Amino acid sequence: MKDTIDVLELLASQHSEVDGLIEKIEEGQGDRAALFSELADKLAAHATVEEKIFYPGVMSKHTTELLHESVEEHLGIKRVLADMLDLDPDEDEEEFDAKLAFLKEQLTHHAHEEEEGKLFPLVRRELDDDELAALGNEVLALFETLIDQSPRLHVPEETAEAAPLPG
Ligand SMILES: [Fe+2]
Ligand SMILES: [Fe+2]
Repeated sequence: MKDTIDVLELLASQHSEVDGLIEKIEEGQGDRAALFSELADKLAAHATVEEKIFYPGVMSKHTTELLHESVEEHLGIKRVLADMLDLDPDEDEEEFDAKLAFLKEQLTHHAHEEEEGKLFPLVRRELDDDELAALGNEVLALFETLIDQSPRLHVPEETAEAAPLPG
């Protein structure tokens, strides 16, 4: 039997991982610059797998509005992230912490309220388990490829406009 992973569970677990990293940075546990690089890489790879695989894979007449709003929210998140990548979390502590608090609010809204709260329940109604598993495998494979390539370094190039969606 093939190992499968439900794409919605996978994406939600990536959201939790990001939340955990933000908490560690806020609490000043360990090396803030290293933790922030890890956070920015995970967020960048997460946004890319959603834009390239998940959102196109779940596009329908019921999801299109939420998906278009989602890529705009990603754009906003990438812009804050790009600003933060120019800062030193220790030298520019006040500005960095303010942007981190803003990023956290954006993510709470986008990942928890919009995706987990609205989009994922719609997707669960529209796709069957095999389709969710196929998307999960594809998302995981791309995420694992991207995460080894310092994906945060591409975020500044992605701040001009929202990622395109099919249809
Ligand atoms: Fe997203
Ligand atoms: Fe997400």
